Amino acid sequence: MAERSKSRKGNVAYIAPSLLAADFSRLADEVKKAVSAGADFIHCDVMDGHFVPNISFGAIVVEAVKKYAGKVPVEAHLMIDEPARYVKDFINTGADVITVHCESPEDPARAMEEIRRAGRMVGVAINPPTPLERAEKLLAMKPELVLCMTVNPGFGGQKFIEDVLPKIAAVRKAYNPKYLAVDGGINPDTIRLAAKAGANFIVAGTAVFRAKDPSSAVRELRAAAGENNG
Ligand code: DX5
Ligand code: ZN
Repeated sequence: MAERSKSRKGNVAYIAPSLLAADFSRLADEVKKAVSAGADFIHCDVMDGHFVPNISFGAIVVEAVKKYAGKVPVEAHLMIDEPARYVKDFINTGADVITVHCESPEDPARAMEEIRRAGRMVGVAINPPTPLERAEKLLAMKPELVLCMTVNPGFGGQKFIEDVLPKIAAVRKAYNPKYLAVDGGINPDTIRLAAKAGANFIVAGTAVFRAKDPSSAVRELRAAAGENNG
């Protein structure tokens, strides 16, 4: 039994539903739905129309999400050009994890320092075509979360890019972060590949919010990620 729980712990997968696929006319209900479906985190996709070719929402929406997420931690995924300029606004939302992109021009390292000073968890995201070396300086700051994008960011409902798998494995080997996240195109098939490569934090929009039964969708994703194989 002890062995079993040990291996379950070793294989634990955190499921983070992405609100981008939610119905924004009923945001509070959608957040509560994710919480009661068993979400471990709520993932908020912030897009500025510059870093990615789409505009989603900003800090006031993340603050509203935080209000309805209860004890479930909220992650803000900042797909924006100027994370250092806006990071304070996101700290003020109460977000528990704030993730910046290594490709953002202004200035992810400074934003990370500020997130850390505020006592929040720091995330670094890496786009599919970006080589790991480009993120080295930020990864040396030991972020709690490293997020390997498995689609080119900007939109939900895209196809998982398998070419990212070796990068996930390399992050696990070289940095072994507490949370190794994948984001984009996740379903029970692709999640297996990602988990095998070392991912333990699974962002899923369409697969949770467009499912008939979000609770069983979360359970199925968690099982596919290996938690129940222990
Ligand atoms: C893409 C976002 C993702 C997106 C994932 O830019 O970062 O979080 O919502 O959506 P699915 O799971 O539908 O691919
Ligand atoms: Zn995201």
